[in-house]
Formats: sequence, C-alpha cells, structure tokens
Amino acid sequence: MRYPPEPFRIKVVEPIQLISPEARRLAMQAAGYNVFALRSDDVFIDLLTDSGTGAMSQEQWAAIMRGDESYAGARSYFRLSEAMSEIFGFEHFVPTHQGRAAENILANLLVKPGMYVPSNMHFDTTEGNILARGGRPTNLVIDEAFDPTNLHPFKGNMDIAKLRAFIQQVGPKNIPFGAITLTNNAGGGQPVSLANIRAVSETYHEFGIPFFIDSCRYAENAYFIKLREPGYANKSTLEIAREIFALADGAWMSAKKDGMVNIGGFLAVRDNDLFQMICSELILREGFISYGGLAGRDLDALAVGLREGLDESYLHYRLGQTAYLGARLKENNIPFIEPSGGHAIYVDAGHLLPHIPQAEFPGIALAANLYLAGGIRAVEIGSVMFAHSNPETGEMVYPKLELVRLAIPRRVYTQAHFDYIADVLGELAQSAASLRGYRLTYAPALLRHFTARFEPL
Ligand code: F0G
Repeated sequence: MRYPPEPFRIKVVEPIQLISPEARRLAMQAAGYNVFALRSDDVFIDLLTDSGTGAMSQEQWAAIMRGDESYAGARSYFRLSEAMSEIFGFEHFVPTHQGRAAENILANLLVKPGMYVPSNMHFDTTEGNILARGGRPTNLVIDEAFDPTNLHPFKGNMDIAKLRAFIQQVGPKNIPFGAITLTNNAGGGQPVSLANIRAVSETYHEFGIPFFIDSCRYAENAYFIKLREPGYANKSTLEIAREIFALADGAWMSAKKDGMVNIGGFLAVRDNDLFQMICSELILREGFISYGGLAGRDLDALAVGLREGLDESYLHYRLGQTAYLGARLKENNIPFIEPSGGHAIYVDAGHLLPHIPQAEFPGIALAANLYLAGGIRAVEIGSVMFAHSNPETGEMVYPKLELVRLAIPRRVYTQAHFDYIADVLGELAQSAASLRGYRLTYAPALLRHFTARFEPL
C-alpha cells in the first residue's frame, strides 16, 4: 500500500528525541509502568491520543489573532456559531472546554440513579460521567465488533434488535437519552453507517427517547460513509455530516479530535427548555454561554478547524495514513482490529500475548514494552480501562478485547515515523513469548487507567 502524500507542507517544526534504552528503563520504572505518568520529553513518538495533539493550520493560527476576548457576545462566538449551523444544524449550542465538560453537564441534568444510557460503546469519560450520577452505561454494538479479523465495513454499528429488546426490558422511562459514538473509539475507531444511525434514531424516537451523538470523530465517520456506503460516493462529507445530525436531538463533541484544535468542545441541542438548563449549568461550571470555558481565540481556531476537518483531501490523507500503518503491521504479523480504524490502529494485545491472563494486563505489558523498545507511547484499552466488579456478585468482569491503541495525532507524523513504529512492533512481536504480565500497586475507584501504578511480575 502506498503512503498518501501529505496535502500540506511543513512550516514549523517541533524537535523530538529518542533517549537511551537505560534512560527509558528508568523513566518507565519511575512512571510505575503507566505511560500516562511519563514526561513527554522522554517520549519519541507519542501515540497516546489523537486528542488535542494535532497541528493547527496557518489559517487557524491567523484566526487566533482575530480572537475577540469580550466576556459576552464576542465576534469569535458568532463566527463559531456560523460554522456550527452550517455543519451540525442544531437550534442551540454552547461551547465547552472539552468533550467531558459537555458530558458532565448532560449527565448531571438528565441521568438519575439507576437509569440506563445505551450506546454502541461509550468511551471512558462518557462512561465515567454516567456512572458518577448513579447511571448505567450500556454498550450495544454489533457482535462483529468483537471479532478483530471480521472485515465488516461498519463495525461501529449498533445492534438494532438488541437495542429494541433492551429498551423494552428496562423501560423507556429509565432511559433519559440514547447515544451513539462516531466513530466507535472504544471498539477500534470503527465507523457507523448512515443506515444504522437512521435506524438507531428511529428506534429511540419510537420510544420517545432523545437521541444524542458523541461526535468527536464525525468527519472521519462521514468520510468512511462516502467511501463505503452505497449511494454516498457523490455526496460531500459536509452533506453527509448534515444528514447525520439531522437525525439527532443533540450532540456533544470533543473538538480536540475532528475539530482540529488543541482544546475545545460543545454541547448542542434542539429543545429550548433543555437549552435553558444547560446554560445555567454552563455558567455555574464552565463560563458564560458565549465562551464556555474557552478563550475567544480558541473559538476562532475551532470555527476554522471544523471546516478543515471536513476537507476531503485532508480526510483522504488522514484515513490513508492510518490504513498504511495497518498494512505495515500486517506485513509484520501484528494482530490488530481490522479493517484499520479512522484515528488509530488497535493492536490485539490479548492475541499477541496469549500467555498473559487478563488479570495480569496484557495491554499494559505491550504498552510498557513498546516504550522500552522504541520510545513509542501508546495506550491500553483493555482490563485496566474497562474491567470492573459486578455490583451484584462482586466478581470481576473483563472486557472482550485487550487492546493497545496507536492513536495518530492529526497532521503531525510522517511516513518515516510510521515505518519506524511498524519496525519496532515487528521486532517486539518476535520476542512476545518472553514478555511478562503486571500487577496493580495502586488504583483509584473511577477512571483508574489514568493514574494506576504497576509492577512487572
Ligand atoms: N467521547 C469520545 C468518543 C472520546 O474519544 C473522548 C476523548 C471523549 C468523549 C471526551 O472528550 O477528552 O475532550 O474530554 N477521548 C480521548 C482519547 C481522550 O484519547 O480517545 P475530552
């Protein structure tokens, strides 16, 4: 597979360096084998997340200079508002400082103890915000999502039969809102088809449940629809995006992904009463309704970034770059969730390290050794992030897959970086049998993966 040439050239550079193997060993030890605790200076290629780690364009930097820092009614807000109506078309929106701030407001207003919020798969902060209100986040993705080698083109789809049965079982009045995540980050960065989004919307609406879209990576999802769904090849990603959001009652977004900014987000709704309640919460927690915890310049960078994130020459390169890394890993016999996702490759650590049981965290073993071997930082998406004890029986429930995500920052790394990553992983795979598991030495109750500490066994 050919690497898609970047549709830009590089005007500013940020130096990175590979520190010595001994320095990496000491850094990893000091971090308690949790890559979240590493200093970025000690990391060579940082694939921890694609969130807020992208490069802004010259137009975005120019927009920053036009930022209007007025407390209320700033020009920056109106420029963002224009981009919001053009793309998403909701009646109301508020900016938030990032995605989880929007999740917090929504969960605080709508989720009561014992209520359920279904989605294809919730990501960690969404799940955390629902759990923090006593709610029960429920994942109803199609079964194909759990088979890493199944080549279903829309592995992020929700299982409509399961969704319907679930709503009937728990009762629609116990579901304050229903969600879907585009693309499905917890399940391989896999897209959802428009036909499925439509069916999800119809199912929620049939039972009177408001439908919200977690839209961090909606532009990548829209481009997958253009590439893979019959009938969409000649539609623009903007038209596809409009068609998606017309089906929903609201959306939240971490703009740090497809918004192409380093910080920012929003919460958008149609309903007037809900919007009034959101405004009160926002003013209490984030800031006034025309800036929501951001600076005016951030709003301007986002107004430009939202449009750049939908640009098809960019999306062609973006998804092609991820697919290139996938193709290189396949040459090196590294198992990962196929087809390649939008923003990341999810290495199947459980499959690569079958001798390490889930209770000994194969994903942590792979992430720690990827850093030790090549200074590459990736994140575990497995038992540390998602295992939990069953509230009724106290038994540990493990996730179906033990993954290590190689998330790709936007417009940051080049082909040589991807070749290096594939080579390091290929060499690591050859010594896979010698890697050992890990033991937790510290873990907080909620969202433990961020601050947990480990010891090699
Ligand atoms: N929803 C999804 C699907 C996400 O991937 C994230 C963040 C959030 C919500 C929360 O947004 O970080 O702006 O508060 N995901 C990042 C990641 C952190 O690495 O995947 P946030």
